[in-house]
Amino acid sequence: MDTNHLKQQAAEYAARFVEPGMVVGLGAGSTAILAVRHIGYLLNTGALRDILGIPCSTQTEAEARALGIPLTTLETHPIIDVTIDGADEVDPQLELIKGGGGALTREKIVAQATRREIIVVDESKLVPALGTTWAVPVEVVPFGYGSQQRYLESLGASVKLRPGGNGQPYRTDQGNFILDCDFGPIDDPVTLGERLKQRTGIVEHGLFIGLAADVISAGAGGIQHQTRKSP
Ligand code: 5RP
Repeated sequence: MDTNHLKQQAAEYAARFVEPGMVVGLGAGSTAILAVRHIGYLLNTGALRDILGIPCSTQTEAEARALGIPLTTLETHPIIDVTIDGADEVDPQLELIKGGGGALTREKIVAQATRREIIVVDESKLVPALGTTWAVPVEVVPFGYGSQQRYLESLGASVKLRPGGNGQPYRTDQGNFILDCDFGPIDDPVTLGERLKQRTGIVEHGLFIGLAADVISAGAGGIQHQTRKSP
């Protein structure tokens, strides 16, 4: 089965947790956008009604508007009932690396405001330890970013400035740069996340710890639905 089909299956499965009256976080990336499109389809066919969406990126916002999904903001609705978002890696404790699409800061703001964060992935994203296949994206203020690069290298990362178009660095929706930091498999993502947050100039990092309530992964054997164990 091809990956797009698996992503579609995970996205449609997750959309069943969206109910009338909910405020819904709309994630970013190719899998989350399939969930956004499916929610749009459910609204447009009358199978779902009365929801308000909060998009995690300008690209998702444009897609949601084109689909006619009513939108709101965290200023008007500071609590989100359910968010459906993707991930680049998921470990066995349901901790995540996100930010492959560059939307990590808005995605984390939305996730932290969400009662139930549902992650949709194909099974290739499931890893034994974070950092196994994916670098940790770190969003930095452009001013002095070389200093942040050296700091990240001092923590053990091999660091690459994410390229954008025309030979220029990639810019996030906030106008910042992304440094993709390959730490290899990460023993202690909580401590690493704390070290990243200590540094002025680092806006946010792609380690999402304690945020995913559910992970829905689609693979050759069907859908696997994992839920976070209570602490
Ligand atoms: C964007 C993200 C995406 O959710 C993540 O990169 C997964 O994307 P895809 O579903 O396209 O593999 O974090 O910042």
